Amino acid sequence: MKTYKIALIKGDGIGPEIIDEAVKVLDAVASCCDIEFSYEEALMGGCAYDITGDPLPQETINISLNSDAVLFGAIGGQKWDSLPREKRPESGLLRFRKELGVYANLRPATVFDELINASSLKPEVVKGVDLMVVRELIGGIYFGEPKGRDENRGWNTMVYTREEIVRIAHQAFKIAMTRSKRVCSIDKANVLDVSQLWREVVTEVAREYPEVELSHMYVDNAAMQLIRDPRQFDVMLTGNIFGDILSDEASMLSGSIGLLPSASVGAKIGVYEPIHGSAPDIAGQGIANPIATILSASMMLRYALGENEAADKIDNAVKRALKDGYRTKDLAQYDAKEVCSTSEMGSIIANYAAK
Ligand code: IPM
Ligand code: MG
Repeated sequence: MKTYKIALIKGDGIGPEIIDEAVKVLDAVASCCDIEFSYEEALMGGCAYDITGDPLPQETINISLNSDAVLFGAIGGQKWDSLPREKRPESGLLRFRKELGVYANLRPATVFDELINASSLKPEVVKGVDLMVVRELIGGIYFGEPKGRDENRGWNTMVYTREEIVRIAHQAFKIAMTRSKRVCSIDKANVLDVSQLWREVVTEVAREYPEVELSHMYVDNAAMQLIRDPRQFDVMLTGNIFGDILSDEASMLSGSIGLLPSASVGAKIGVYEPIHGSAPDIAGQGIANPIATILSASMMLRYALGENEAADKIDNAVKRALKDGYRTKDLAQYDAKEVCSTSEMGSIIANYAAK
């Protein structure tokens, strides 16, 4: 039997509730796939600041680097919004991504047939959507120097090096090879020099993947096309800030931000996390949707551990729970047979996954 070491970072707000459900489901598939998980918890975000004075204690980095993968909930909340920038939960997360070198953030957006009515767009527009945003995660304007502010000016710098563009482009093309072999690279090359370099380098890398069809699109047009005709996209390759924005937009195609998982991968250990935030307004009420985190655990099995059978079991269990009409509160209006709590949803999916 194989044992995997998983670092659990529950974080703030609904983070602990949703991670607990993902663990329930992982343990359910473990027993039938001849694998075992050992978990170690680590602190990040506001809860880490409250206890240690630092949103990212060194111990969290050590525990994470010493694991096979990191499963992460969510961080942040109003309570910590007035702290100096480097003490804020978000700064801890950005430092964490940088320390782990997870430069590629994979954010799939799919529309489940069972939830076709949950999207704010017409069913005929979103039916069958299956795209993947490949977002560069540790460069661009989030990290570029110089940055800062004084009383009258604030400044950040969007920088990409050739090397950074090459490695994220390879990720996107490799993923496209396992899908329908189309990459659309999103930039603002009509205005930004950094985007011009991005476009040139992506075009060069594309020559190594002759089977993949590459197109380029300006980010403003891409934002529009995602709403107008989302099925035209397969892999959307883009930088840090454009990817942040477009992936939130893409999540709405599926009807609830509580459904979408993500994987952040790079040279070392990967981080698997829902794309939604810590939702402090609903924390502790048992109404959060755990599916995004459960599907993140499935991405972890697939990408970090190569346990595809276990991952398939989870994905199928989620589909079956939705098909059978189980809904958390965010989706209660959409063809629900039974509205369930966070932990009921976790148990239903765990039961299906164990079969
Ligand atoms: C995300 C979030 C983060 C980001 C925040 C919390 C720093 O919005 O993961 O998309 O901007 O990357
Ligand atoms: Mg975001």
